[in-house]
Amino acid sequence: MGARFLIRNIGQLLTIRSSDTGPRIGKYLSELGIIEDAAILINGEKIAKVGKEKEVLKGLKRSSITDEIDAKRMMVSPGFVDPHTHPIFYGTREEEFCMRLAGMKYMEIAQAGGGIRNSARRFRNASKTEIKRQTKAVLKRLLRHGITTIEAKSGYGLSFESEVRALEIIRELNGQQPIDMVPTFLGAHEFPDEYRDKRDEYIRIIIEEMIPYVAKHNLAEFCDIFCEEGVFDIEQSRKILTAAKRHGLKIRMHADEIHPIGGAELAAEVEARTADHLVAASDEGIRLMAKAGVMPVLLPGTSFSLNTGKYARARDMIAAGLAICISTDCNPGSSYTESASMIISLACLHLKLTPEEAFVAYTLNPAYSLDRNHLYGSIETGKIADLIIWETPNYKEVPYHFGVNLVGKVIKRGKRVV
Ligand code: NIG
Ligand code: FE
Repeated sequence: MGARFLIRNIGQLLTIRSSDTGPRIGKYLSELGIIEDAAILINGEKIAKVGKEKEVLKGLKRSSITDEIDAKRMMVSPGFVDPHTHPIFYGTREEEFCMRLAGMKYMEIAQAGGGIRNSARRFRNASKTEIKRQTKAVLKRLLRHGITTIEAKSGYGLSFESEVRALEIIRELNGQQPIDMVPTFLGAHEFPDEYRDKRDEYIRIIIEEMIPYVAKHNLAEFCDIFCEEGVFDIEQSRKILTAAKRHGLKIRMHADEIHPIGGAELAAEVEARTADHLVAASDEGIRLMAKAGVMPVLLPGTSFSLNTGKYARARDMIAAGLAICISTDCNPGSSYTESASMIISLACLHLKLTPEEAFVAYTLNPAYSLDRNHLYGSIETGKIADLIIWETPNYKEVPYHFGVNLVGKVIKRGKRVV
């Protein structure tokens, strides 16, 4: 028998268990499965027992316990599952943040040669060791904010070699620090400097060279694209995404972030697992996504940091029966944050989610969106023990007490990591 780790004296335990199975929609999005006066018994990496402390302790030999935490009546939740991040970058773009403060728009900066291409130049000129060092620092901050699993995209290489390098970094870092990373290939993040006037050629390289290599070497599970006016249009996106599907990659999409060009509709057509951003998504797009079972990943940190004043219509999406997720979109351009709690505050204030919906949209639903629902996203017997012991007795304090990190301890795979 492995190590037996007891967490007791939990005042409020959010198990996220509910009467419903599958990604949570409608009223099930609010079910936190709260147990008061709770305890959790962990055996090795997995949760062995969860319930009222009295029941968990019944018949348990205290001498068999190898580690114990007294949660001091505080709240305990699953570790967050962040389903949209760009953590493999080099250097930062505070100058562009200042340009936006002075009135320039995100897409104007991109058209003028900044944005993703600025990051791609820095990425290509950095060594693998330098990039890994910076990425490790990002991952450490994510972990301190209670994020224990992420979806991680490439997308700052924009060439065969450097996109592969980004995905190799994800693979290597997966074993070298606690956070689990689910890799996504995002070679179609932007057209690089050298292909601005030969866009079809870059698309050919993505389809004929990058995607087959990435799929063959299992470097990514998902393929993503920045489908947006001035970047990859609908026709180009359809071509790339159907090629990715042919090679066995599942689809996520940056869709309708700024202009309503039919990204949500295309996500439904190609049966994407998720469509992300969706600030400008049409009613028809939302309806088709519901029909096709596409999950929205909403990124309020991006609307906040770009200061557009426009947020995704989360309430309409919930009313349409969509299983929404929320995420940091952690990246050096449009949303430079590792703070899950800040995202929960923004989701409540600007997406109009309730605190209950925000927690489910940041735990179990994203685990489903990554096909990791059997491992992560809730506190149930048999799942991996990824937990946050908070410095608050009540989950409602998380959105309310904004801009502050109330994460006390983080347990990843049954081990204390924060
Ligand atoms: O999700 N919109 C495209 N991609 C990222 C931003 C990338 C960047 O600006 O570096 C996003 O917002
Ligand atoms: Fe993104």
